[in-house]
Amino acid sequence: MPRQQFRKQLLAARQALSTAEREAAAQQVSDHLLALPELQQSTTVGSYYSVRAELPTQTLNQQLQLQHRLALPVLHPISLQHLLFLKVHPQTRWQANTYNIPEPQLRCPDIVPLSALRVLLVPLVGFDAHGNRLGMGGGFYDRTLAAWHQGLLPDLQPIGLAFDCQYVEALPHAPWDVPLPRVITPAKVWDFRG
Ligand SMILES: Nc1ncnc2c1ncn2[C@@H]1O[C@H](COP(=O)(O)OP(=O)(O)OP(=O)(O)O)[C@@H](O)[C@H]1O
Ligand SMILES: [Mg+2]
Repeated sequence: MPRQQFRKQLLAARQALSTAEREAAAQQVSDHLLALPELQQSTTVGSYYSVRAELPTQTLNQQLQLQHRLALPVLHPISLQHLLFLKVHPQTRWQANTYNIPEPQLRCPDIVPLSALRVLLVPLVGFDAHGNRLGMGGGFYDRTLAAWHQGLLPDLQPIGLAFDCQYVEALPHAPWDVPLPRVITPAKVWDFRG
C-alpha cells in the first residue's frame, strides 16, 4: 500500500477518537514520558503544539515548561522546510504559522539549538514495528532529525508520541525517512533501539 493510503487510513483512525479518548490517551502518554530516566532531573525538552487530531500536548507542555525547559518548533524563516526550536516562557507571544499552527514569535535570544535539547517529542501519523515513522508529508521532522541520524547529536533523544491506533506492522519508507528510536503510546513505551 502506498504512503498516501497509509496516511489517509491512519489519519482517519486518529480522527475517529472522541475528545475524552484523546485526553485520556494524552494523560497516559504523559505519565509514561515523565517516568523516563531522562526526565528525572530538570532538562530541556523540545515538544510540539498539538493541532487537530494529534496526541494532545497542551497539559504536558505546561508541565514541561514548569518542571523543565520547554522549546517548541517554528517554521524556519530562511531555511525553508526546516524547523527552529524556541524556548517558551511566560512572556512568549504566539502567532499562527502558514499551517495555522500556533508558534512562539521568533526572537533570536529564544532560539534553542538542537544540540541543547535532551529530548525531542515528535508528532506522527503512523509508526511500525521497526520505528519507521510516517508524518504529515512535509519532511520537516526528517530534516530536523537528519543530523541526529548521522550521529552528530549524540545527546538528543527523539521520542514519538502517538495513539495506539497509529501502529501498523510495516510502513513503506524512503531513504530520507528517519526511524524513531522510541515511541510512547498509552499502552507502552516502544523501544526500537538494538
Ligand atoms: N533530509 C532531507 N533532505 C531533503 N529533503 C528531504 C529530507 N527529508 C525529507 N525530505 C523531502 O520531504 C518530502 C516529504 O517527506 P516525507 O513524506 O517523509 O514527510 P513526513 O515524514 O511524512 O513528514 P514530517 O516529517 O514533516 O512529519 C519528501 O519528498 C523528501 O524529498
Ligand atoms: Mg518521512
